Amino acid sequence: MLLENLKTPSLILNVNRMKRNAEQMAARAESLNVRLRPHVKTHKCVEIAKIQMAGNAGGIMVSTLAEAEHFLKNGFTDITYGVPIETGKFAEAIRLAKASERFSVLTDDAATAESLNEAARGENINLDVFVKIDCGYHRCGVEPHAPETIAIPRLITDSSNLNFAGILTHAGHSYHARSPEELLAIARSERDSMSALAQQLKDKGLGVPTVSIGSTPTMSAIDNLDGITEFRCGNYIFYDAFQATLGSCSFDDCALTVLTAVIHRDFSRGKIVVDAGAIALSKDHGAVELDENCGYGRVLDLAGNDLNLRVNRLSQEHGEIEVGDEAILQRLKVGSRLRILANHSCLTAAQHSHYHVLDGEQIVDCWEIRRGW
Ligand SMILES: Cc1ncc(COP(=O)(O)O)c(C=O)c1O
Repeated sequence: MLLENLKTPSLILNVNRMKRNAEQMAARAESLNVRLRPHVKTHKCVEIAKIQMAGNAGGIMVSTLAEAEHFLKNGFTDITYGVPIETGKFAEAIRLAKASERFSVLTDDAATAESLNEAARGENINLDVFVKIDCGYHRCGVEPHAPETIAIPRLITDSSNLNFAGILTHAGHSYHARSPEELLAIARSERDSMSALAQQLKDKGLGVPTVSIGSTPTMSAIDNLDGITEFRCGNYIFYDAFQATLGSCSFDDCALTVLTAVIHRDFSRGKIVVDAGAIALSKDHGAVELDENCGYGRVLDLAGNDLNLRVNRLSQEHGEIEVGDEAILQRLKVGSRLRILANHSCLTAAQHSHYHVLDGEQIVDCWEIRRGW
């Protein structure tokens, strides 16, 4: 089927760009001598994860237990659940751990580790647990110099039914770097704080099987990963307008767009309205620190050429685009097709049920997205 014949809005995956992104990141992991554990929350799709895994055996990270279940059913047996565990999810995590070769969870909370040990003991199972470290993002995790960075690993190591899997961090603050120098400094500090902590734990007699870091911006910037054993990144598989503005990739690497139709044209206000609103694009802000007018995505023509327009305003199913150029406005009649390169591909993908797989000008396949919790 041709792209222009698809119903709108639809999610379009440029399969050749996606494969290239997968190959390049796998090669990067190899050259930096670390295992790549892709975060599959970006795509939530078995076909894409299989492409990412070709040539590496580091397992995957998931963001929901529903994803864990789905990927396990489809043959992925080494899974890390990437959101801190809480008591309401113990039973499901234990069930998943029993069915997997390796299922790891993470925590930054001593009381949770203690109660997880009790739950695991009750089920006669041993669980792999990472301690989550805050390397500067300040979302979750123990600060690297806090006493808990030693106390919680020790508590886990000494527990009857928990295995200390190692330390893990995510430098989400890298998304707000204002320059390549600042991004490199964040990437180095993510690496250095984790390798120093791993050494400190080893000096205290604690084994640290895995030192896990990763975000797409820091992985694009880092020069060497001495002291790190695993890196996890997700967004790189599609990239997006945010990453291209930040410099993690070029605009030609971006593999995911939303096909949309013009549903209204207003010459007096110099704008068009398309049928891709917040529920097709997500309402995520872009790299506003670097491009304050980034809006909610860049507007491309059907062939993928940038029209130098932005989605300026969004409501649930309407996207408003200001069009200053009269000739472009004349061309964009109601019914015209456009493609939107959204700011944050992970959130855009999560709005949809399927990828329409684009190879050249043809839609060649349709792949399921496993949403929900
Ligand atoms: C815990 C964790 N690890 C890894 C990642 C991957 O980051 P990115 O999508 O920037 O590659 C994320 C993303 O939010 C995350 O939350």
